[in-house]
Amino acid sequence: MIFDTHAHYDDEQFDEDRDSLLCSMQEGGVGTIVNAGSDVASWEDVRALTARYPFIYGAAGVHPDDVGELNEENFRRLRAVLQEEKMVAVGEIGLDYYWDNESHEVQKTWFIRQLELARELDMPVIIHSREAAADTLQIMKEHARGLEGVIHCFSYSAEMAREYVKMGFYIGVGGVVTFKNSRKLKEVVEEIPLEYLLLETDCPYLAPVPNRGKRNSSLNLVYVAEQIAGLKQLTYDEVVEQTEKNARRLYNLL
Ligand code: NI
Repeated sequence: MIFDTHAHYDDEQFDEDRDSLLCSMQEGGVGTIVNAGSDVASWEDVRALTARYPFIYGAAGVHPDDVGELNEENFRRLRAVLQEEKMVAVGEIGLDYYWDNESHEVQKTWFIRQLELARELDMPVIIHSREAAADTLQIMKEHARGLEGVIHCFSYSAEMAREYVKMGFYIGVGGVVTFKNSRKLKEVVEEIPLEYLLLETDCPYLAPVPNRGKRNSSLNLVYVAEQIAGLKQLTYDEVVEQTEKNARRLYNLL
């Protein structure tokens, strides 16, 4: 079944129908979801989701846009949250020079601290990187050696994807791959072996065609898997099965 490796069901856009939507997942072919907590306030919500739904696992971290709220006390809390049951990864963490909410130095400092925390806890990482290709790769090379993880919502070149695959990282592919103007990501999907690709929504954002612009959910991953199958000349089932296997390996859910 489909494994959504990156979702945000704690988002307020799901407040009206969260339960009925999540209860329709199994029927819609979605077997497992990892919900990523991306700011301090989200961690409790992630924990509640994993407690309520057997098929939801959690990740916790602070997104580069929000690292301004991190301090030693919150960082200790993060360490404790990550050690709870059903928490499977540190994330999302990384660099975002598109929104540039925080200075690059502050972003880098907390990115590195969170990578080190993942190493200490022996957990995989979920990396967010936007318009920060060179700095992300440099930090990953210096601080993420030997770690496992995914470069989520991958937006860089095939050459950059190969660099991460060489380091053992997975490439997260979502709705963008169905967009007409996503030539670069389509090339990445064509070139990178299926054994290194993961399905993800980043919902409520980035719904694929034919639902582009609407609120996204894991049910839309059908369109992403179909697109990947077409690009790689594989069957839909092969894409779903292999990406599920990849996700289970990464998040240690075997
Ligand atoms: Ni996200």
